[in-house]
Amino acid sequence: MMELERLLRSQGFGSRAETRALIWAARVSVAGEICEDPVARFDPQGLRFAVDGVEWTYRKFAYLALNKPDGYECSQRPLQHPSVYSLLPAAVLGRGVQAVGRLDLDTTGLLLLTDDGAFIHKCTSPRKRVPKVYQVETRHAINAEQVAALLGGVVLHDDPQPIAATACVQLDERRLRLTVTQGRYHLVKRMIAASGNRVEALHRLSIGALELPDSLAVGQWMWLDSPEQALQAEG
Ligand code: URA
Repeated sequence: MMELERLLRSQGFGSRAETRALIWAARVSVAGEICEDPVARFDPQGLRFAVDGVEWTYRKFAYLALNKPDGYECSQRPLQHPSVYSLLPAAVLGRGVQAVGRLDLDTTGLLLLTDDGAFIHKCTSPRKRVPKVYQVETRHAINAEQVAALLGGVVLHDDPQPIAATACVQLDERRLRLTVTQGRYHLVKRMIAASGNRVEALHRLSIGALELPDSLAVGQWMWLDSPEQALQAEG
């Protein structure tokens, strides 16, 4: 059982004083009934509540997928461009969600966010080898040597150890579907450059077994009920 005020704090609705103020102002209802008692106790498991008429379900941790638009930074304090965090509601931000790895300003597609630090660690750990699939548009026509180089391993300037894509499928003259299991800075762009081509557009399709749903419009986010799909390493 959890006191309403603590429950709201855990869900990102602010400090103790702020959540108390919300409750006293009759802005919070639980299972359809307004509750004005900050210390009323509820079983949080699956609890449905509303703040200012907006419905929420209690979640121990928040896991979400965002369809990242072009031109958004994966930074909490962006310098020149809007932040992906500006696409999320205040209560989600209030929980302290963070992106699970970053996408470049001009990369689009699947971005995971969570307030579960252990999950971020697992998903980004190089040892876990979680596959990430990108659709890559290239400047120049792709040739068989480039595909072979990406699959065989290319050497980047900061590491003598070659890095190989675990899959590379040419979709048409200037488009590839590339799978990588690392998460280094500009990794795909640098691999494509090292293969003798250049990235014009980059879109992430999946992380582990989790695919960007077609129904998720650009700039929209959704809760993930089975986030462990994103940890599924290659078989
Ligand atoms: N590789 C890149 O080069 N950029 C990204 O945003 C993600 C992977």
